[in-house]
Amino acid sequence: MNVLGIDSSCDETSAAIVRDGRECLASVVASQIELHARFGGVVPEIACRAHLENFPWVIAEALRRSGLTLGDIDGVAVTNRPGLVNALLVGVAAAKGIAFGRGLPLVGVDHIVAHIHASFLAEDGGPEFPCVALIVSGGHTSLYHLASATEHHLIGATRDDAAGEAFDKVARLLRLPYPGGPSIEKAAEDGDPAAFPVPRTSPGKDNLDFSFSGMKTAVLYKAFGQDVRPKDAKKAEPRAPVADIAAGFQRAVVDVLVKTTLRAVAQTGVEQLVLGGGVAANTLLRERMRAACERRGVRVVVPPKALCTDNAAMVAVSGWFRLAAGESDGLDLDCHPRPVRAARG
Ligand code: KG4
Ligand code: ZN
Repeated sequence: MNVLGIDSSCDETSAAIVRDGRECLASVVASQIELHARFGGVVPEIACRAHLENFPWVIAEALRRSGLTLGDIDGVAVTNRPGLVNALLVGVAAAKGIAFGRGLPLVGVDHIVAHIHASFLAEDGGPEFPCVALIVSGGHTSLYHLASATEHHLIGATRDDAAGEAFDKVARLLRLPYPGGPSIEKAAEDGDPAAFPVPRTSPGKDNLDFSFSGMKTAVLYKAFGQDVRPKDAKKAEPRAPVADIAAGFQRAVVDVLVKTTLRAVAQTGVEQLVLGGGVAANTLLRERMRAACERRGVRVVVPPKALCTDNAAMVAVSGWFRLAAGESDGLDLDCHPRPVRAARG
């Protein structure tokens, strides 16, 4: 079954074709970074207008690269939650148009669940169940226990900022370009994390939640002076080299992510861990998680970097699970800014 995946939840216009939920035939991502960079973050109205311009060629290019035509497509999967509603609408309208025009089944997909399902495109094969998944993106930092590919229970989440959001905010303080995660990672290459230690904060040992807002504020005060306001910090010079601040912050975030995830793995007794979401493209996180899990005999399943950040291949995989189960949505499929709330427990 060839599934066309479509994603426009934020600032990436993407289309992909995946065969049988496992084999990525083509994945095209049109980045809008240049359009948003000068604003230091995503401007929703600009994002949705760019999606409108990009989708015709992005979908055509995905078909061209896969060597298929629309006649070879068996179903259309589209992200309809969570995300910027006007951006989601553009992808959903494109998906509906193709599904209606070609008489194909249409399924809506949750973007966060799609980040979990990206693991089925990992080079050494997808996860086995049960497993734990850590999804770290710009909007979410969540731990799930998965009994199967489609049964997930939320066991931990951030109480304030997502890890990617914290990377983006600290990058802005340091006047590093948007998006902040890759900029911090690059700046940290020349830095010494020990020269700028950042306190690790956690909401306690009796739960599996995260808190990154305090770490971001610790960077602010330590780098620019106690009680400085963020808007004043943006005009001031930091008191330590930017490379050291970036390295210290990155190390602290990675330490907290690895430590809490290992507790989740130990508590649930699983032998496999899925890592996904934009922050999972971070090399230090990938290496440290792998090393820590290896010592405990736990396999880490992580997609290639390009499939950790937003893409439509993961949407096609996620949609395939629904289509293969005979499910589909009507042309009244709606968009929602929030994710489906996974059961907590
Ligand atoms: O999953 P994603 O592409 O979009 C959302 O669903 O949010 O994640 C984007 C987030 C941004 O906050 C970005 O700064 C972060 O992922 N990110 C990274 C890296 N690449 C992207 N964070 C740390 N290191 C990276 N290499
Ligand atoms: Zn995402």
